[in-house]
Amino acid sequence: MPAHVAIIMDGNGRWAQRRGLERQAGHREGARRVRDIASACIDYGVRVLTIYAFSTENWDRPADEVSFLMDLIPERLEAERSMIFEQQVRIRVLGEIETLPLLDRVAVQDIVRQTDRHAALDLNIAFNYGGRAEIVRAVRNLIREGVRAEDVTEDIVSGAMYTAGQPDPDLLIRTGGDQRSSNFLVWQSTYTEFYFSSILWPDFTKEAFEAALADFGSRQRRFGRVPVTAPGAASDA
Ligand code: FPP
Repeated sequence: MPAHVAIIMDGNGRWAQRRGLERQAGHREGARRVRDIASACIDYGVRVLTIYAFSTENWDRPADEVSFLMDLIPERLEAERSMIFEQQVRIRVLGEIETLPLLDRVAVQDIVRQTDRHAALDLNIAFNYGGRAEIVRAVRNLIREGVRAEDVTEDIVSGAMYTAGQPDPDLLIRTGGDQRSSNFLVWQSTYTEFYFSSILWPDFTKEAFEAALADFGSRQRRFGRVPVTAPGAASDA
């Protein structure tokens, strides 16, 4: 079982357009899947779920879609409040939330603070997030803290990321048919297994998630090493 699953939730717009609906309807339905998949993570013992809710590139979308997505995240967090508390979900935000209107920002910061001791699942919401921007931010913070060049290690850089203290993602799922990582968790995904699904995110059910977990379970992870094989057995490393 992966300890950390990351998801690029692609295909909301197409899901809506195929039904003759506004793209926003796809995002709204997609947000409901987050609840289902978070719940499945708890059932299966996945400890961290990171979802790509709004990338730094998403600012290029039409203004009404951007403001809809900005509103959707605080709205869903409020709507799912009882589930978040009952199921002991810890909310973390990866990205710059300064762009949110003041009240929304305070609401998001409140739920992050209030859930800090929850231990069933870390739900990382990547919001106004870019992987390269995260690395730049980490480097700046280390320089500001006065860390000396010769003291910089991979562990120190990992500790300066939004995901400090969490395991790197074991499995990254991208729905919607495209096969790229789109500036998501650039530092953390060096040995992540990728799983691409053509299913559009609002159609990505618990069963589809289980299929991704089963596929992950069948993979042999080597982390760049030669696999351990029985004496005399052929190795394909
Ligand atoms: C990509 O689909 C999806 C997004 C840019 C937004 C995803 C955000 C949510 C589902 C809300 C998250 C909710 C919570 C609770 C944090 P797309 O619009 O690129 O789809 P397309 O490729 O079909 O156009």
